[in-house]
Amino acid sequence: MSAVLASNAPTRDAGEARDPGVDLSDVQGNILRGYRKKRVRHLTAQVIDAREARAWIAAIVGPDRALAPEITDAAHWGKQPPDVCFNLGITFTGLQALGLPDATTSTFPEAYREGMAARATKVGDWDNSAPACWQPWFQSADAVHFIVSLHADTAALLDDFEKSLVAGLAGRAFKVCGRNDGAFFNGDEVHFGYRDNISQPRFANISPPGKYDDQPTAPLGTVLLGYPTALEQLTWTLPDPPVLGRNGAFNAFRVLEQDVVAFEKYLDDAAGQLLDSPLAGELLPAGYDGDGSPSARLAAMREVVAAKMLGRWRNGTPLALSPRTPSPGQPVSDTDYDYIDDAAGLRCPIGSHTRRVNPRNARIVQRVANHTRRLIRRGIPYGPPYDPANPDANDGVERGLLGSFICADLSAQFEAIQYDWINLGLQDPRITGSNDPMLGANEGDAGWFDVPTAKGTIRLRGVPRLVRTRGGAYTFLPSISALRWIGAQKV
Ligand code: HEM
Repeated sequence: MSAVLASNAPTRDAGEARDPGVDLSDVQGNILRGYRKKRVRHLTAQVIDAREARAWIAAIVGPDRALAPEITDAAHWGKQPPDVCFNLGITFTGLQALGLPDATTSTFPEAYREGMAARATKVGDWDNSAPACWQPWFQSADAVHFIVSLHADTAALLDDFEKSLVAGLAGRAFKVCGRNDGAFFNGDEVHFGYRDNISQPRFANISPPGKYDDQPTAPLGTVLLGYPTALEQLTWTLPDPPVLGRNGAFNAFRVLEQDVVAFEKYLDDAAGQLLDSPLAGELLPAGYDGDGSPSARLAAMREVVAAKMLGRWRNGTPLALSPRTPSPGQPVSDTDYDYIDDAAGLRCPIGSHTRRVNPRNARIVQRVANHTRRLIRRGIPYGPPYDPANPDANDGVERGLLGSFICADLSAQFEAIQYDWINLGLQDPRITGSNDPMLGANEGDAGWFDVPTAKGTIRLRGVPRLVRTRGGAYTFLPSISALRWIGAQKV
């Protein structure tokens, strides 16, 4: 097989750069659809018998429900998705453990073949985020073969599903090595108190019609293999045979621990730094500083810091539309905004999380990269909500986000965002050398974050590392046809 194929180099696509349409029944449901279930369970599993594992894969896409549950695809939902939605991600070592020949596995792209742990320095996983510190079941990258993802509204549904899964054919095919459970609290809130799950790429002919914003729709090749991408006339090379790749996607599955105690403390520190600045009045929200007492000013400024770090107020209101208050008085759209008319970042700082990870039409240095690194995000928090009234109860409690970052090319999308937008800040010289204030691999006291105002920029210093990686894996989410193909292999 040629080296070009193996490196997932882009190839010229003679077709028009428009979505040719997709058979939704051939695509795993978690890629293009948000299930909106309250709970998730990700089972990390290791193949124990290749033949039984291929038989199990054939069964989850076959007609006999006595053998195995049906994988959830993106069609056939009727009015609502099944009670338990069930999807399968396979790592590179998983493809090998299934007995697929080298001639096939070697045609997958390099980032996926190497796996997440081997790419640690590219994505900022060092110090206490290094693979050696991950949850035990992720530490030996070779041992992670499948991530089986279950979404349901209750823990009982998940328990029952898992029990019947492993009691059947699956029990002879693989063993479950680890379990990562997550659950929403307060609607779409995530730890740190922000509303999440608002902005996603929209796909022509697939996302519900209606005007959301003026951002371009994402071509299907942003997430599915085999279609035109946002890079003009380019599609990613399919693995060989093509049936294995087409309609599949890659997933960077991440267990991200959030240090809420450090985050809340940093809001105090940074709000203090801002209040000490002669420019504080440029930032305090209009009509939001209560009685003007020091504690009211501190409380208001803490919310400003939280909003500037993310790019949205904690209630989800975008800074780009409402820079001075989280309660604008008139409805503002969740996603209908751009940074093109905020070049200096006066409304939304250039270094904030959401502006880094999706610069929209902002004039970034890598101009051609706007809109090319879009990701589908499926994230559900894990661990108990932080209780501000009882700070001692938060000590030593692990909480964070179970995040799936789904795309067509791990290197050009997920890793590129992590490597040079979240960390390093290469998209704009004004933030180069700084990391994402919420997510970045900040070390010691060196982290900084600039908050521009109309009268000058205030540099916040001492931004700590607030998010630590606890595990993860690069998986491939094969199409239904690809799973059938794997299930039919006689090797
Ligand atoms: C603990 C980790 C993380 C937390 C708490 C977090 C939180 C958030 C929140 C609250 C939003 C705003 C809501 C929305 O626009 O939907 C957001 C947006 C976003 N995040 Fe994160 N995030 C995390 C990790 C990541 C990572 C690792 C990536 C990518 C590698 C990422 C990429 C994005 C993207 C692409 C958006 C949408 C931006 C837009 O389209 O405007 N996030 N995140």
